[in-house]
Amino acid sequence: MPEQYDLIIRGGAVLDGSGAPGVRADLAVRGDRIVTVGEVPADAVAGETVDAQGLVVAPGFIDVHAHDDTLVLVEPDSEGKVMQGVTTVVNGNCGAGVVPYRSSRRAQEAGADLPTWDSYPGYLEAIASHPPSINVATLVGFGTMRAGALGGALPSFGTTPASSGVLGADVERPATAEEVTRMQAWLREGLEAGAVGMSTGLIYEPDRYASTDEIVEVARPLADFGALYASHVRGEGATLLDAHAEAMEIGRRVGVPVQISHHKASGRAFWGRVRDSIRQIEEARARGEQVTTDQYPYTAGSTRLAALLLNGRIGDSTADGLRGEDVLLASVPERPDWEGKSVADLADEWDVPPKQAAERVVEEGGRATIVVQFAMDEADVRTVLSHETTMVGTDGLGFGSRPHPRHYGTYPRILGKYVREEGVITLENAVWKMSGFPATKFNLAGRGFVREGHIADLVLFDPETVIDVATYEDSRRAPLGMPWVFVNGTAVVREGAHTHERAGRPVRRGVDA
Ligand code: ZN
Ligand code: CU
Repeated sequence: MPEQYDLIIRGGAVLDGSGAPGVRADLAVRGDRIVTVGEVPADAVAGETVDAQGLVVAPGFIDVHAHDDTLVLVEPDSEGKVMQGVTTVVNGNCGAGVVPYRSSRRAQEAGADLPTWDSYPGYLEAIASHPPSINVATLVGFGTMRAGALGGALPSFGTTPASSGVLGADVERPATAEEVTRMQAWLREGLEAGAVGMSTGLIYEPDRYASTDEIVEVARPLADFGALYASHVRGEGATLLDAHAEAMEIGRRVGVPVQISHHKASGRAFWGRVRDSIRQIEEARARGEQVTTDQYPYTAGSTRLAALLLNGRIGDSTADGLRGEDVLLASVPERPDWEGKSVADLADEWDVPPKQAAERVVEEGGRATIVVQFAMDEADVRTVLSHETTMVGTDGLGFGSRPHPRHYGTYPRILGKYVREEGVITLENAVWKMSGFPATKFNLAGRGFVREGHIADLVLFDPETVIDVATYEDSRRAPLGMPWVFVNGTAVVREGAHTHERAGRPVRRGVDA
């Protein structure tokens, strides 16, 4: 009797996700598990057999910096992520989570069919009952809890509630002891349900009004679960080193690992400063602190325009100021016709200074308006990418007609541009930063490595041709050279086409399932 499998992948160069060099091997999969890495008998039969000659077979990529909290429910194909080889997203970054809110404006607009929740257990159950094509892990968003506890509108990316209200002045104060207790309870409930940690976004409302002490108090439950603290730090320009120091202090005081989100130096005056922040991280690590970072490989960021205004970034008044032409409108809920224009375009049209134009865009276009802002240095991108503490995350905001291309191109861009064309890092190191490293740091058991017994989240790509083609002008474009993606053993990309299989699952911290 020939051996029988569900899936056989023959003749690929297997990069196992550990950073070890590639090995030519066959793979056999039964159900959702890899059962053989090595030689699969020639007469073995399978539901699907893939000829992987000339292709790399790697663990599916883990996007540790995602904002797809409700996007995975509204757009379950998750095309931007799936087509670039991502098999698991970690949502809830930058302080923006989904609790204590029941749903979101986007979800409501998309139809009554979508689930609601009022807790992290409920959110993860919603993923299980309405599975997307991709696996979903989550961080608990501190800012969203703080808005819920102190009273205010939901400060989330593209998931603003119907009211889309400006946060009340009531959040511009320290949390009371009772409010801290409420936030701790939500966090604990989330961690019990399998959340991987807690995030903050300290340039955003209402997170920015929280002191270091308040964050430490709310974060205490993390230590009981071995979960991590992830932070969009309080400043990425003039105050970068102080901001990193605060993140590390919080990690030390709570006694948990730290993940610094989208490591960068933002603003021309501060280019090159990532060398100092790297030294600072190395010193902390030498003291035994577990500090790591993530990065998206672009010189433009993307965030809410209201947040840039709030931080005094628009206009020439500050050293990390952005010029009108540096800021492109990506998603403008009330004025989609403005998407693709720059703040300078509108400032010219209206004959006002850039700052005034930006204020008018937020007023008429909506508080949830998202922009792409050119603020980083290419040399810094390479410096951060090549550092051993850096893993990969997209920070994708997949809303509007012109989202930042990172939502579609992050992984193939690293593999094509930074590995093949520029040789900034090796292929096996890149794959480690995309799979094994994040799985280890975020405690995603059974994922992130191509090993017997592990879950069959896999991506097959051609190292000679893989490349991103999503641009700032035309960003909703799937990459080239990535013909197969498997989630939990099921093909979600077959010969370059999305299969629309909804093979994803909720992923719970430390649970191999
Ligand atoms: Zn952020
Ligand atoms: Cu983010």
